[in-house]
This record gives sequence, structure tokens and C-alpha cells, in this order.
Amino acid sequence: MDLKKVDKDGKPLNLTKQANRNEQADYYGYWLKDPQSLEPSQEDIKCELQLQALGDFEQLDLPLDAGLFHKEIKQYNDWFVPYLRRDNVSNDREGMLLVGLEGDKPNDSLSRPEAIKRAGRMLYESDFNVPTEAYEKLTSLHPILDYWGTLGRTMIIKSNQGGWFPPHRDSPYLARDTFRVITFLGNGSGMDNYEWWLGDERKTIVANRTYFVDTRKVHRTHSWADNSYHLILNIPKTWENVMKLMSVLNFY
Ligand SMILES: [Fe+2]
Repeated sequence: MDLKKVDKDGKPLNLTKQANRNEQADYYGYWLKDPQSLEPSQEDIKCELQLQALGDFEQLDLPLDAGLFHKEIKQYNDWFVPYLRRDNVSNDREGMLLVGLEGDKPNDSLSRPEAIKRAGRMLYESDFNVPTEAYEKLTSLHPILDYWGTLGRTMIIKSNQGGWFPPHRDSPYLARDTFRVITFLGNGSGMDNYEWWLGDERKTIVANRTYFVDTRKVHRTHSWADNSYHLILNIPKTWENVMKLMSVLNFY
């Protein structure tokens, strides 16, 4: 079985071509074409400065009933689909969509490049703002999800043995529309099974805890066990949401 072409059940993968700087990160080109698109507003500047002051991997005090999560995720395991599988790369990672586009199902393709392909238009993280059935059914996550009100693209990533994300940055420009909060979900998401590197530093993860992560900085992840779950939230970057974040810092 060629795991670069099929998933572990033998189902053909919906492959995306390999990442390309000119299509994904030619910021100078974008700026030349439309200077306004990268111009930070006053709110962008104050939000980014405040976020930068907090640290780049900060534990939050948001409750999670891990026992209930394990029970629920078993029930909805069929909603996981392969996550952004690229040409000629073997990478066992899957995802389930919790907040997507109007009409999206939990098992619709959920990476931004795949969603742009299926929608046929450019999409930013905050364009995904409609809860799917998975949001509703996974009640164990409601204390973490509901706290923020309207969310941007939100999903569970399931990294299996050999699943990884290469070094990359998520929207590293001041005018980005969302910031990231991540919950390491369930008992298989801790440091025994999983690595999260930010720059050249491996970060300390406590399983079942939620963190603000500065994903503008280079990060990469690796899993050497199956079923390492991560809840990835895109929080619309507003001053109100930055204040909400500060109110739940574990170390205040
Ligand atoms: Fe990332």
C-alpha cells in the first residue's frame, strides 16, 4: 500500500500539490499589488503588542472533562478525514471540522488550501464561522469553545504514528484576522507521544490543557503514537477577545 497515495484504509487521498512560497507567502508581491491588504489597523497594532507581551506558549485556565472527551470522540471517530495530504509525502494526520463555512459537515476537507479549492475563492480564517454538527455533539469541548463567542476555523487534528507538521508560520503579518488557541486533548496528547517545537525549543505540554500559542513564530510537530488529538481554535483578533484571553491566563 502506497501511503503517499492512499490512506491507511486504502482509500485514495485527495492530494494537494506541494507548498509554494510564491502562491502562499509572497508578502512583498501582495503589498505591491494591494498595499492596503497588509496595512495594520490601530486595533491590529494594540492587539499584537498585547499578545506579544504575554509569551508565546501560555497555559490557560479553561476546563476540560477528559473522560467525557474520550467517550465522545470514540462515538464520532468516523468524521475524521485526511488533513492536507500533499503530493509524494507520507503523513498520517487527520482532522474533523468544528467551525467551517455555511453548510459544512464535520467531514468536509478542513485545511485552508483544501477549503479554498472547494469553495473556489480566497478564504481567511475568520471566513469560517459556522459551527458544524461536531461542535454541537462534542459537549466536552463546549466550555473551551463557547467562551469566545463567534470563532474562526476550528478543528480537531488527530496525529497518528508518523504524523507531522513541517516548520511553518501561520499568518505572520500584523493584519492577520485571528490568533490561535490550542488544547492538547485527551491522555495521548502529552509529551510521551507528541512533540511541539517553537523555534528551536521543545515546549512543555500538559495533556488536557489549553494554551495560547504564538503561531506567527516557526513551529513544527511530530507524533510517534496514534490518536494524539489537538483542538485548534482560530479566535477573531479583536481587543475584546484579547481581554478574554488575559482573563483566563493560568499564571496571572
Ligand atoms: Fe501551524
